[in-house]
Amino acid sequence: MMHPKPAIPLFHHSIIPLILTIILTSGCDRLPGKPTLEERWKPGMEIMDFSQLYAQNCSACHGADGRLGAARPLNDPLYLALANPLTLRAAITRGVPGTSAPSFGQQSGGNLTEKQIDVLVEGILSRWGKPEDFKNVVFPPYSLQNAILRGTTPVDQQRGAVAYRTYCAQCHGADGNGGTKGGSVIDPAYLALVSDQALRSAVIVGRPDLGMPDWRAYVPGQPMSPQEISDVVAWLASHRQAGALAQGKQSKERR
Ligand code: HEC
Ligand code: HEC
Repeated sequence: MMHPKPAIPLFHHSIIPLILTIILTSGCDRLPGKPTLEERWKPGMEIMDFSQLYAQNCSACHGADGRLGAARPLNDPLYLALANPLTLRAAITRGVPGTSAPSFGQQSGGNLTEKQIDVLVEGILSRWGKPEDFKNVVFPPYSLQNAILRGTTPVDQQRGAVAYRTYCAQCHGADGNGGTKGGSVIDPAYLALVSDQALRSAVIVGRPDLGMPDWRAYVPGQPMSPQEISDVVAWLASHRQAGALAQGKQSKERR
């Protein structure tokens, strides 16, 4: 690197020794504008700082502070109490096939190391999780698979339509095409881009950042049962167009 030529003639003679002393004793590392050690560019694999990893890899879709992005908020204690660390890890590592959620694990073609994914999972949970707030809450199963393992019967769209009218229609409209408080939830263009799990997560924990309550609060005093949750997701998914349906099934089976 070239040293800039000090513009000595412009200065009064008495400060020349001072300038020389500064330049000679500080060396190249102190040239103005030179990044400090922490600011220097690092190859991606060396970054272990949560904020940096999150900003570079997640904030574009999940929002700068984990809220109000195009994809669901991660800065959502209720969601973090529902989804366990293994679920978060799997979603980050493998992404969600058939949707825009990218895979970050190196075995899935991404470029985050296992340790970096650990930093993300731990950082998300420790910064944004509040498990103590939900100690006494009985959550519905996160996935359809777990719901079936815990004894719900196979999904039924007809029952789902009934559940929709009971719990959702007041906001999303009688037929799902949108109402005064919520947009359409049966738009094929929307459904083509989201997995059944994303619909299920939304039904369970809502969208606190956008004003959608959670499974306990749609009808006061009447939380949705695990069966109703599974059925209403099946009803939503039944509005997917034939081509997109295969993708929905695939991402459902993944978990
Ligand atoms: C009190 C009003 C309200 C109720 C009740 C409600 N929602 Fe919502 N919902 C919203 C709002 C507000 C949003 C965010 C804005 C939008 O997308 O319309 C939303 C968003 C959604 C989304 C998109 C979520 C995302 O992350 O993209 C889905 C899917 C959804 N709701 C389904 C349902 C279903 C199914 C039910 C019933 C089980 C339901 N909602 C009940 C208000 C409500
Ligand atoms: C290009 C946009 C995009 C980026 C970047 C992105 N995501 Fe996502 N993510 C999504 C979408 C879209 C979904 C929902 C996919 C679906 O299931 O339909 C999602 C889903 C998830 C889920 C699962 C949500 C659920 O329903 O349980 C987690 C956890 C998650 N992302 C974490 C992350 C983290 C952490 C990062 C950064 C390492 C990240 N995502 C980067 C778009 C993105």
